[in-house]
Order: sequence, then structure tokens, then C-alpha cells
Amino acid sequence: MPTSNPLLLSPAPSKCSLEMLTHHYGDVYEHSPWVAEAAWQHGLTEAHDAPDALAELMGLMLQQASSEQQIRVIQAHPDLAGKAAMSGELTQDSTSEQAGAGLDQCSPEEFARFEYLNETYKEKFGFPFVIAVKGLNRHAILAAFEERLNNDAVTERQTAIEQIIQIARFRLVARAEQ
Ligand code: GUN
Repeated sequence: MPTSNPLLLSPAPSKCSLEMLTHHYGDVYEHSPWVAEAAWQHGLTEAHDAPDALAELMGLMLQQASSEQQIRVIQAHPDLAGKAAMSGELTQDSTSEQAGAGLDQCSPEEFARFEYLNETYKEKFGFPFVIAVKGLNRHAILAAFEERLNNDAVTERQTAIEQIIQIARFRLVARAEQ
């Protein structure tokens, strides 16, 4: 019986210099390569050549960061179905994630709803609404958006950080699958 090969990242993170790791994996956290750098400083073993293990360690680095650093990472995300998405200014990962959830297909009413919620949310929390959109459609995203607007600021920061860790995990797994 053939055994299935575990998915591994290439280049192997455990074999990367700091510069190589940042070059290849620095962008899995949106505009925040310091997360990959912190993982390298922590020390990478062959176990981290598996996307889930590297995602776990990078997530820990973000969880252990100060609340100011965490907020800067959240702020590095573009609005969902926002103007930057419409004018093609997003990173490749953000573009495909937003399109994958059908956010580029919103009706004018849905775009207006996103615009209203994006502004209301940013006004309340001081950072944009971030959600791991893989597997969600725009109706589920809008429902989560309305619900999370009721959270307090500390809960919402922690929720956004967990979602960002999940986004990075999806990005690393997708790279290992290529
Ligand atoms: N979730 C997945 N991708 C994105 C993105 O580009 N922006 C926000 N706000 N959330 C996301």
C-alpha cells in the first residue's frame, strides 16, 4: 500500500537563512514579515517544514506580540469588498481570497452594505474587519460581520488575530500543495 506523502513546504523552512525565510514566507502575514522573522529567531526544525507546524509557530509569535504590534498587523489588511479590492490594489493572496468568496460579485446593494459595515466597524475598533473567508460565501461573511460588531474591543482584537492566524495557515497549506 502506498503511504501518502505529507505535504511539505519548498524551500524547506528548516534549511532557510533568515533572508530566505522572509523572502519566501514573509508575506503569509499581510505586510508583516516580522512574524516570519520571529519564527526563524525562535528556531526552526524539520518539523516546521510541514505547513501546519510552521503556521502554528508563526501564530504563536503573533499571539505573544504586544497589543500594539497585533493591532498593526490587523491594520495591514484591506477592507473586504472595499475600494482597494475594486481597483486591483490588493496582494495576490488577498485578491484570490476575496474573489474565492465571491466578494467581487456583490450586487450594488451588497457593496453598499459592506461599505457601511466597514466604516462602522473601523470607527468602533480602529482596525478593519478581518475574517478567514475560505469556505464562506458573502452572505455568511455579512452575517459574521453584523454579529462581530457587537463584540467589545478586546474580544474583537483577539478574534481578528485568530482569524489572521487561520488565513496564514490556509496560505501556507496552499503553497505546500502547489
Ligand atoms: N480575509 C481573507 N482575506 C482578507 C482580506 O484581504 N481582507 C480582510 N479584511 N479579510 C480577509
